[in-house]
Amino acid sequence: MSTIQLDAPATSAAFGPAVALSCRECGARVPLGPQYVCVECFGPLEVAYDFHAAGRAPVTRELIESGPASIWRYAPLLPVPADVASKPNLNPGWTRLVRAENLARELGLRSLHIKDDSGNPTHSFKDRVVAIALEAARTFGFTTLSCSSTGNLAGAVGAAAARAGLDSCVFVPAGLEAGKIVMAGVYEGELIAIDGTYDEVNRFCSELIGDEVGEGWGFVNVNLRPYYAEGSKTLAYEIAEQLGWQLPEQIVIPVASGSQLTKIDKGFKELIALGLVEERPYKIFGAQADGCSPVAAAYRDGHEVVQPVRPDTIAKSLAIGNPADGPYVLDIARRTGGAVESVSDEQVVDAIRLLARTEGVFAEPAGGVTVGVLRKLLEAGTLDPSAQTVVINSGDGLKTLDAVAGAGVTATIAPSLAAFRSARS
Ligand SMILES: Cc1ncc(COP(=O)(O)O)c(C=O)c1O
Ligand SMILES: [Zn+2]
Repeated sequence: MSTIQLDAPATSAAFGPAVALSCRECGARVPLGPQYVCVECFGPLEVAYDFHAAGRAPVTRELIESGPASIWRYAPLLPVPADVASKPNLNPGWTRLVRAENLARELGLRSLHIKDDSGNPTHSFKDRVVAIALEAARTFGFTTLSCSSTGNLAGAVGAAAARAGLDSCVFVPAGLEAGKIVMAGVYEGELIAIDGTYDEVNRFCSELIGDEVGEGWGFVNVNLRPYYAEGSKTLAYEIAEQLGWQLPEQIVIPVASGSQLTKIDKGFKELIALGLVEERPYKIFGAQADGCSPVAAAYRDGHEVVQPVRPDTIAKSLAIGNPADGPYVLDIARRTGGAVESVSDEQVVDAIRLLARTEGVFAEPAGGVTVGVLRKLLEAGTLDPSAQTVVINSGDGLKTLDAVAGAGVTATIAPSLAAFRSARS
């Protein structure tokens, strides 16, 4: 482990309402620090809060609504200092919630919204998680921001580090989409391609933390993972607020490590507990690609453990064969009455085109997976067509142009009216 220690006490103002890290398996608590594994049982650690601590102002809808148009409007619900918005960071979030009437009509749904996170600064939802991890990195005194990434996270870390004046070094599996490589490299941090799968990259990063080479490095999704993961709660908050302080009845979420899905559930539960939304049942559905569907397979087979796989899919951003949060995704899908399903690469491409044609939203394959699973579950009668539904588009199609390589000019003509007329006849 890194020798960097947290000087501040556990209830330091640096972490807002967060009071400790708690183990998701055995409940053991440890002070807030750059730890991610429970020393008692090796379970994953997550951030625990006391929103009602003495002297802490109650979190109201009005307080949130008066905040900035970014994730920082939810700062009182996150492990960040109250003045977080005044520091140099990318200020992600408050992305649009698109009312998708055309797509709803085509699929036979009563009410459908797309939470379009391609509108974030580096064009994926990863800016949300990195923003929280960056704050933790600053507090712990890390000087280099790092990560293992399937592509989008690398770009988000490079950009956030550049803006905050930190060094960055990010690790990706070789063979990623060209758009993601350029997007991660342009910020001029170090970008290391590793000849292996994401899971092998991730394992390598864990080794680096224990080595002197990794001294002073904050890996946003490894030793800063508890903080990083909390960034995904902001998706839950925004969706509820943008629906008029209401939870959706069903939501479809892409699954790689499964962190986004589990934290959206955590966010919904917090909103209910804080009285910010009325309690109502909601169903959570997970979406994977057939070529990397260990959680969907476990769901289908009724298993509680997730059998790792070696990924082979065009949905490279979701290509995590050994998902850390897999068992929790299974639990949430089953507990809420949802499901975890997968679609073929062909269905992913069809869904990308469908979303573009009906709503003018250009998704990367992760969005195609999610919309593809929405369609598949509706056809199977698993999703309720009369329930209010939200799907997440977590990334931008401009980074993954090859996925829809057939799209392009419909005719090449001479610059004359006659040529245009004849081309269209
Ligand atoms: C575009 C996109 N969507 C969804 C995910 C899934 O995230 P998680 O690992 O939280 O399940 C990723 C992960 O890299 C991603 O890049
Ligand atoms: Zn434990």
